[in-house]
Amino acid sequence: MKTKPLSVALLGFGTVGGSVARIVCERPELADRIRLTHIFNRDVARKRVDWVPSSVAWTEDIDALLESKPDVVVEVIGGIAPAGDWVRRALGQGTAVVTANKMLLAAHGPELLDLAVRHETQLRFEAAVAGGVPLIHGVREGLAGDRLLRVTGILNGTSNYVLSAMSGGEQSMETVMVEARRLGYAEADPSADVDGDDAGAKLVVLAGIAFRRHLQLADIPRHSIRPISAPDFRYADRLGCTIRQVALVEARGDGFHAFVGPALVPRGSNFGLNMDANNIVTVAGHYGGENSFSGAGAGGPATAVAVVSDLLSLTQRERDRNEEWLPASVVAPPARPYYLRFVVKDRQGILSLIAASLADKGINLDAVLQEPGYPKDTLPFVITVEPCEEDALVAAVQEIATADFHAEPPLALPMLLGEARRT
Ligand SMILES: NC(=O)c1ccc[n+]([C@@H]2O[C@H](COP(=O)([O-])OP(=O)(O)OC[C@H]3O[C@@H](n4cnc5c(N)ncnc54)[C@H](OP(=O)(O)O)[C@@H]3O)[C@@H](O)[C@H]2O)c1
Repeated sequence: MKTKPLSVALLGFGTVGGSVARIVCERPELADRIRLTHIFNRDVARKRVDWVPSSVAWTEDIDALLESKPDVVVEVIGGIAPAGDWVRRALGQGTAVVTANKMLLAAHGPELLDLAVRHETQLRFEAAVAGGVPLIHGVREGLAGDRLLRVTGILNGTSNYVLSAMSGGEQSMETVMVEARRLGYAEADPSADVDGDDAGAKLVVLAGIAFRRHLQLADIPRHSIRPISAPDFRYADRLGCTIRQVALVEARGDGFHAFVGPALVPRGSNFGLNMDANNIVTVAGHYGGENSFSGAGAGGPATAVAVVSDLLSLTQRERDRNEEWLPASVVAPPARPYYLRFVVKDRQGILSLIAASLADKGINLDAVLQEPGYPKDTLPFVITVEPCEEDALVAAVQEIATADFHAEPPLALPMLLGEARRT
């Protein structure tokens, strides 16, 4: 059954709002599910861009926008007022709301969720925690079968950028903060980030999703990362640790232990390895153990993906019943570097023979590695090659394998450097 696309009014055309519009306009395949009808912003004339279709109304009249009864309002203005009043009005008239506003949800989440239920509509907020990481869907739907015990996260990209840049034990926080501002990771006043309010608000939202409980932000102890200095990293290092701003909420008896602040974490753990402005959240469940979610916690395009995913999930139910997987073919991988391991009976000229076979197929050597101490009749060594086509590599290795100096067949492994860097 074909359903009409959802009419969507966008409130706020800033970092996130601009990216939401961009995705909706750039993906024509979404047109039968989502139709952008309005873009609302103060002094809207200065916001106009030519890539938004002329069918979209640019407006600064919120009353007329709400009276037009869009199916969904996307609130990406931020702050508690007036955005909160507009969200209330939308829900109160049965219009679904998608928001990225953690501060509003932390302060008024229960009231707004109740309003949505009473008016038989929906309030979605995937973008409010960990930007583009599909954490809310993951916890709410993917982990619904578990009894959750604890949620631990690095939820503030600015603090993580600062602490991970300081982790070498050389740089002061002041120096790193200057660079963070230059790269757009930190605002002129970074207090909400470094003192824990931002992560605290996200923790309130996460506790709501994981435990269906509303903690007051004011009740959650928040400790600033400001006192952390270079020697702390050097001492942490001696303990096998590094320092991150951690947000944690854990069910304990009838209540919850919750805090936000700098903490020692093992250097090799997924928290210790979480670098730059990335976010990571680990959810511990009674039955399923730990699951982690990580990725870009902020930025217009990543956050907008979460907003658009929420919009699509509002259109999903009907479609799920008719999910269709069209046939597709598997194609060759892109050019990539390879690791080639040989075990040979040593003799003169082996390297030059291998190099000639590779060169013949247009493959360039990158490095030759040989560990000392192996017997001459089973001598392993490794050649890495620059990015090349898989067909060419297979042909070269097959040719090399016919030589009589092998003690074992050659082994070729792709080097997934870009793909695996963040795991
Ligand atoms: N940026 C991120 O990476 C990120 C990540 C996750 C969640 N979020 C959340 O997403 C929301 C939006 O953030 P953002 O970074 O996109 O902010 P932003 O760039 O400041 O955009 C906000 C937009 O709303 C407009 N606006 C503000 N107050 C208004 C008012 N009273 N009436 C009409 N328009 C108003 C602003 O207009 P002006 O241009 O006139 O100021 C601006 O265009 C916030 O709740 C934020 O916490 C952001």
